[in-house]
Amino acid sequence: MCGIVGYIGRREAMPVLLEGLHRLEYRGYDSAGIAVVYRGKLQVTKTAGRVQDLRDRVNDKIKSNVGVGHTRWATHGEPNEINAHPHLDAEGHIAVVHNGIIENAEQLRAQLTTAGVNLVSDTDTEALAHLIAGELRTGGGSLEDAVCRTLSRVEGTYGLLVIDVRHPDELVVARNGSPIVLGLGESEMFVASDVAALVRHTQQVVYLDDGEVATVRANGYQTRTLDNQRTSKEPTTVEADDGDYELGAYEDYMRKEIHEQPEALRRVLRGRLEDRFATARLGGINLDPRELRSVRRVKFLGCGSAYYAGQMGAVLVEELARVPADAEPASEFRYRNPVVDPDTLYIAISQSGETLDTLMAVQELKRKGGQVLGAVNVVGSAIARECGRGVFLHAGPEIAVASTKALTNMAASFALLGVLLGRVRDMSAAEGARLVDGLRALPGQIEQILAQEDNIATIAGQFAGADHMFYIGRVRAWPVAREGAQKLKEISYVHAEAYQASELKHGPLALIDASMPSVVLVPDDELFAKNISTIEQIKARGGPVIAVTSGDLPADLADAVIKVPHNTPELDPILLTIPLQMFAYHTAAKLGRDIDKPRNLAKSVTVE
Ligand code: F6R
Repeated sequence: MCGIVGYIGRREAMPVLLEGLHRLEYRGYDSAGIAVVYRGKLQVTKTAGRVQDLRDRVNDKIKSNVGVGHTRWATHGEPNEINAHPHLDAEGHIAVVHNGIIENAEQLRAQLTTAGVNLVSDTDTEALAHLIAGELRTGGGSLEDAVCRTLSRVEGTYGLLVIDVRHPDELVVARNGSPIVLGLGESEMFVASDVAALVRHTQQVVYLDDGEVATVRANGYQTRTLDNQRTSKEPTTVEADDGDYELGAYEDYMRKEIHEQPEALRRVLRGRLEDRFATARLGGINLDPRELRSVRRVKFLGCGSAYYAGQMGAVLVEELARVPADAEPASEFRYRNPVVDPDTLYIAISQSGETLDTLMAVQELKRKGGQVLGAVNVVGSAIARECGRGVFLHAGPEIAVASTKALTNMAASFALLGVLLGRVRDMSAAEGARLVDGLRALPGQIEQILAQEDNIATIAGQFAGADHMFYIGRVRAWPVAREGAQKLKEISYVHAEAYQASELKHGPLALIDASMPSVVLVPDDELFAKNISTIEQIKARGGPVIAVTSGDLPADLADAVIKVPHNTPELDPILLTIPLQMFAYHTAAKLGRDIDKPRNLAKSVTVE
């Protein structure tokens, strides 16, 4: 969703800001804008189009060393040039870019209008520009002071970046619920809402905390809380570098990220497989064996694919540790006044670490005394920081809207958790060793699946004309079916519905005919024969079947077969997920979709 960039230092700001905005495009946006200080004035350029359009519009003759930029995802007011950020005060001294939502915006806008201020946009952000200017006029002090006084009147969430043309040697930033990161350079500083915008220039970063404000100058920064307590921050080194954000030889990020899975998986397993005691090591969760044993229940919370990963996690934990486990969409959990049980371990799952629904679920859990761990990909993100402990996913930057490698690493992390919880209970060392070996085999096995891309692309081509598809799985493969259907829907726009194989005959079988292909998941486990009979039932009603299997199916049973290697049955679901990603990808490619940026979707959903 919205993105913020800022620069102050020795180079020309404009190219740095435009490049930063380009790096944030993957998050989804509908308009963009930029403001730099030039000859004592703010030079503002905006567009209701893409960053490339903004690039075409800016005046190359403008040379400046300080500026701010923004990509906007409309919340207050339609996506047009006027509503695009930056927003200015009446005199054009102050420019503000803002992520998040100001909840009392209507009230603040009304107060400004009563005071005679002419608001030109429909946005909540414009109110902030006028309020900051008013605070400077009436209360004096520094820009930072005026920002703090303004924010004390504001309810809502913000990542905020402010520039005052009369003080072009500083930028002021503030954070509450929407990320702000400072990038530290040599005689230059960068500001962004996502490290993607600044890793090209520096890997030394400082994440602001909620309620924190910073004044940033070319040669450094200082931070304080809104109520004027100075804070001190330790810089962090970002894991990713600029190359991780490049497409390289790939035509789009989704295909690149699908192919990065073996390496991403090796990273999430590195240092976490303990052969000597046939268990897993997850230092970040910070629970000793006694505490692990006292966990009575595990509940996974996440949204979309992260929720499906949580379902995979629940199956793994229940099976490996014999601890009751379930998953629930965080978006539902936060609204239903949940009973929070102190003996339950809650796991908040998120690639971005910014999904508002998941963040709110974590905050609700903490308010009610629940113990919550994060399973998060982005270090320094809001959910990682709110949880304070957990498992980092180490998938590397995920740019495509559709999640692939992060989901695989989520499921693998939950397998590690299952082994860890199992080994402090009744799981034998032999069983632990079988799972450790199985986990270690996964990256190589995924490479074997990726090598079948041509075959999967051909099968996708054969079925790309379908308007609807079923994804059928049972027990361990049920969350895999749900995730497979989700992938197809979001990037190809083909309607897909996941069903438990056991439920087919209770209703949906009525929909089966020659126009309704089914993807049936057939792991080589104790339910293999049952899944074969599911295929036979579908075939008997004329339904085409694509079988994805780790077993040996009778010849001619299905119309198309995708084979995955056999691991241990508990881990087979991780392997079954990969061909479904590739199938969705090649269906979308065949249909000519914008695969990395599917319509109506954003990479991280930071609003309600
Ligand atoms: C689907 C997808 C979304 C996300 C969901 C949660 O491919 O990417 O369903 O999984 O929006 O996002 P995170 O994991 O960032 O919290």
